[in-house]
Amino acid sequence: MSEEIHITGTSKEEKYISLLPQLKALVEGEEDLIANLANITAVIKQTFGFFWVGFYLVKNNQLVLGPFQGTLACTRIALGKGVCGAAWKDAKTIIVEDVDKFPGHIACSSDSKSEIVVPIFNHQKEVVAVLDVDDDVYATFDETDKLHLEKIASLVTAIVSK
Ligand code: SME
Repeated sequence: MSEEIHITGTSKEEKYISLLPQLKALVEGEEDLIANLANITAVIKQTFGFFWVGFYLVKNNQLVLGPFQGTLACTRIALGKGVCGAAWKDAKTIIVEDVDKFPGHIACSSDSKSEIVVPIFNHQKEVVAVLDVDDDVYATFDETDKLHLEKIASLVTAIVSK
C-alpha cells in the first residue's frame, strides 16, 4: 500500500476524481475499519483543507464520534438531532449552506459555517455511520461534493460489511 496520496487537478471535481482510486487502494490494503476511517478523514482534510472532517458511527441507537480531523467535537448525537442525526434518520445526504439557518444544528465549533453530511450504508441498506464535513466558510458544499463524498461513502460500505 502506498503511504502517499498524489492529488492532480485544480478544480474540486478534478481533485475528487484523482482522489477516489487512491482512497480505494488505500482501504483495500487494510482490513481494520477504524484505521481506514482515520486515513480517509486525513486525506480529505489534507486535499481540500476543510475545517472539520469526521465520521460518526451508529452504536446503541446513537451516533458516536469516530475518527476525525479537526477541532474537539461533540461525542454523541441522537437520531434526528442536528444535521448528522437528520442525515441518519432520513438516510440521505444533507447540504447546509448556512448552519445557523438549519433548525437544530449542533454547533460543535462556532467557526463552522457550512456542512455536508453523507450517510454510510451497510449491504442491508441500513445507515451504520455518517461522514460529516464542515467548513468555516458559508456555502462551501454543492452537488460535486455530494456526488464524490457519496462515492467515498460507498468505499466504506465495502469495508463495514467485511
Ligand atoms: N454540526 C453537526 C454536529 C457535528 S460537528 O459539526 C462535528 C450536526 O449538527 O449534526
